[in-house]
Amino acid sequence: MFRLAHLSDIHLGPLPRFRKRDLMSKRITGYLNWRRNRAKAMGNSALNLILDDIEASAPDHIAVTGDLVNLSLDEEIKAGRLWLDGLGEPHDVTFVPGNHDAYVLGALKKTVRELRPYITGDSGPAGSRIFPALRVRDKVAIIGVNSARATPAFIAAGHFSERQAAALEALLERTGEAGLCRVILIHHPPVRGATTPSKRLFGITRFQNVIRRAGAELVLHGHTHLETLNWIKAQAGDVPVLGVAAAGQMPGGPRPAASWNDITIEPHPAGGFSISAVRRGLSQDARSVEVIGQMTLSRQPPVRAPETAR
Ligand SMILES: [Fe+2]
Ligand SMILES: [Fe+2]
Repeated sequence: MFRLAHLSDIHLGPLPRFRKRDLMSKRITGYLNWRRNRAKAMGNSALNLILDDIEASAPDHIAVTGDLVNLSLDEEIKAGRLWLDGLGEPHDVTFVPGNHDAYVLGALKKTVRELRPYITGDSGPAGSRIFPALRVRDKVAIIGVNSARATPAFIAAGHFSERQAAALEALLERTGEAGLCRVILIHHPPVRGATTPSKRLFGITRFQNVIRRAGAELVLHGHTHLETLNWIKAQAGDVPVLGVAAAGQMPGGPRPAASWNDITIEPHPAGGFSISAVRRGLSQDARSVEVIGQMTLSRQPPVRAPETAR
């Protein structure tokens, strides 16, 4: 059994100035303690409760699907690195960038450079290409795809390139043949109508065609700050596409309060995988995190036309 925690859209504020001194004192009291407290110190109370809940549940791996920061300022990206360091070892945490991590021209490069240990695949980048990035943990292939790129003001659209599509298809085929459970991480939702045109992913059809042909077991995304479950049609069975609320969202806003997905993956005796998820979200009084939903995410068999009588 493999347990994967999925959270997204952290939107950390810039690193406050007084933290430098705080960091010094924490170094004295102990590195591990510093790391853990660090992650919490930089979030709001909703984010802290979500982090506590994830930590208490002790997942095998944590997936963060982008928008770690807001404006991609150098200070923010550095703070984001510290925050990820607090979340866990790079071996146990995988990150894909969101549009806020690629806010202006050149920002994506800085984000990737600073957060590289959490982004790159097990065998490092293929040449200068980091994405798609493959990490294999247990029987799970965690595949990071990048949809983020700098856009003009008021546009938060993403892009899934032809180059990434070809590489992703090859990766999905290879990991599928190896009998791995293929989990794709992408910031923008690769489904139609999931968001407004200015925030949409360009290349949805391209992405879905790859999934339809090569298959996958699960797609995780962020960006909408919504708790959604969609399905992509595929030859070997429909593939679940799971979204999640922003991890720092307090109750009472237009979007749902903070949540995370507690995903369980188990090899099925008959082949394939049984996948289920529990959504855990902030309570209305913002004092605790509780179960807010449960989902079966195993691939749904393709619907076959009824056999005709002979
Ligand atoms: Fe976001
Ligand atoms: Fe986003």
